[in-house]
Amino acid sequence: MRNATPIYSEPPVGQIVIAGNWKMYKTQAEALEFLKGFLGQLSETPEDREVVLCVPFTALSILSKNLHGGRIKIGAQNIHWETEGAYTGEISGAMLTELGCRYVVVGHSERRQYFGETDETVNKRLKAAQAAGLTPILCVGETKEQRDRNETEAVIAGQITADLAGIDQQNLVIAYEPIWAIGTGDTCEAAEANRVIGLIRSQLSNPNVSIQYGGSVKPANVDEIMAQPEIDGALVGGASLTPDSFARIVNFQ
Ligand code: 13P
Repeated sequence: MRNATPIYSEPPVGQIVIAGNWKMYKTQAEALEFLKGFLGQLSETPEDREVVLCVPFTALSILSKNLHGGRIKIGAQNIHWETEGAYTGEISGAMLTELGCRYVVVGHSERRQYFGETDETVNKRLKAAQAAGLTPILCVGETKEQRDRNETEAVIAGQITADLAGIDQQNLVIAYEPIWAIGTGDTCEAAEANRVIGLIRSQLSNPNVSIQYGGSVKPANVDEIMAQPEIDGALVGGASLTPDSFARIVNFQ
């Protein structure tokens, strides 16, 4: 049974947003199994930390029904810019909010790299997310080649300008995800992530936007990452797939 009324999103309660991005992992049964191991580890999690799971579309409903309105918010990994229409394979904002979805990842580098996502389509998807009452998590980041050519600052600045044109910065999360650090175990130095996130913040009209770091965040490095003054959260891939490791990340010291 689906929720009768869509749950519209409010901007995150705190500045700290820790989100798992499950990518194309977990069936419904596996998602439930994860919840069983994870929920019990949140009793000490500070209230001002927003805990989000961005899961495959097929797992949204079962998670929503089993969260019992609790501590975890759920998110999707993409949204189309139209409200409905002949767009095979796409999904609308209303389809997501009906399932209790509060967040949506937009412009992840895997979508840009493998599925032709551009700054223009990212911008349209961000607008659609906000219009539907969802909080978008906008991902930006440079490739290894761009970093080696000293283009990091220009690439990020270009993405922020283009992606955020006309976007309300009151209901927004940004994730800095250097592409070379994703899924590689090759984490960006905490101080360097802090520097780039500071540059992103200096470009925003709302300096209070929550800005996450993403790229090989693990239990072993999360404390150092979260100790950085500019870093407000984390977007976690691989380490969000097991209850114990994601719980340790959410409960960072
Ligand atoms: P990993 O944590 O597996 O490096 O993935 C990061 C990511 O892409 C989150 O969106």
